Amino acid sequence: MQVQLWCVCIVTVLTIVTGDNLVDDCQLVGDKKSFNEQAVLKRLAPLKNKRFEAETQEGTETYKYTFVVCGRVDNSSESTNEGLVQSKKVKDTTETTVIGRITETHIINGTDWILLIYGNGEKYDRHCNQEARKAMVMISCNKNTQGGAFTVISEERNKSKECFYLFEMDSSVACPPEESHLSVGSILLIVFAVLVAVYIIGGFLYQRFVVGAKGMEQFPNFTFWQELGNLMADGCDFVCRSRPRTSETAYRGVGDDQLGEEPEERDDHLLPM
Ligand SMILES: *[C@@H]1O[C@H](CO)[C@@H](O)[C@H](O)[C@H]1NC(C)=O
Ligand SMILES: *[C@@H]1O[C@H](CO)[C@@H](O)[C@H](O)[C@H]1NC(C)=O
Ligand SMILES: *[C@@H]1O[C@H](CO)[C@@H](O)[C@H](O)[C@H]1NC(C)=O
Repeated sequence: MQVQLWCVCIVTVLTIVTGDNLVDDCQLVGDKKSFNEQAVLKRLAPLKNKRFEAETQEGTETYKYTFVVCGRVDNSSESTNEGLVQSKKVKDTTETTVIGRITETHIINGTDWILLIYGNGEKYDRHCNQEARKAMVMISCNKNTQGGAFTVISEERNKSKECFYLFEMDSSVACPPEESHLSVGSILLIVFAVLVAVYIIGGFLYQRFVVGAKGMEQFPNFTFWQELGNLMADGCDFVCRSRPRTSETAYRGVGDDQLGEEPEERDDHLLPM
């Protein structure tokens, strides 16, 4: 009985010492995992193992924070799965404090942000009823960067529990997926452009090979468009010019009422030619 117990003890100690309990990914809390949390974690994949650093000054002391997205800050076997650590230079030594571990991850998202939380950090000495420290990283959508602008916002420890260190950063992974739906307007525009192209090319081929037209005449319905152009020029002349030009304009008698009938009239003239 005692031998068995010893064995269990030795095995447990061994696994801790050899670092078999090291993980290399964010682990969600609880046996039953939230589907949404798992889906949002997948979106962080492009940032996985990326390292970000930020500094703050408090009085004479400089604190440096190192954040690794779903990876360990320390890759050695002494690691305790820390995902966000604070280090403070004291004379020649560096004091490090674990703020959060990837073994206790929470993740929440909204339309253009993702909030990543690492819990189970080192316990506070005096504040917050000596609970474990916790890091919250607010990732905001920014299409121009895969990851950047990591900054320290504040440390909230003036309460008896649920204290946290708050950080923020920018990343495109927090952006909503791009909608690639074409609007009805653009579809109509495309259809129109295609019809125009078919008209011009088809008409050109017809004029050239069936009618046997040459030069500009190959352009489909060339005379009609030419006339339309003239008509439009007349219309513009009529609308834009302040005083009537010559008797030529007067003879044509382009008035509001006649304007609509004009093309037919002219086409009739042209037909026999
Ligand atoms: C830590 O190890 C992981 C794989 O285990 C690797 O992807 C990552 O680049 C390493 N980070 C550093 C800083 O060496
Ligand atoms: C949160 O992320 C999930 C998974 O990517 C997504 O399906 C959901 O629409 C996001 N929530 C919001 C409010 O955008
Ligand atoms: C916490 O309280 C101290 C004074 O007790 C104050 O200087 C500090 O700004 C407070 N911090 C926050 C985040 O409210």
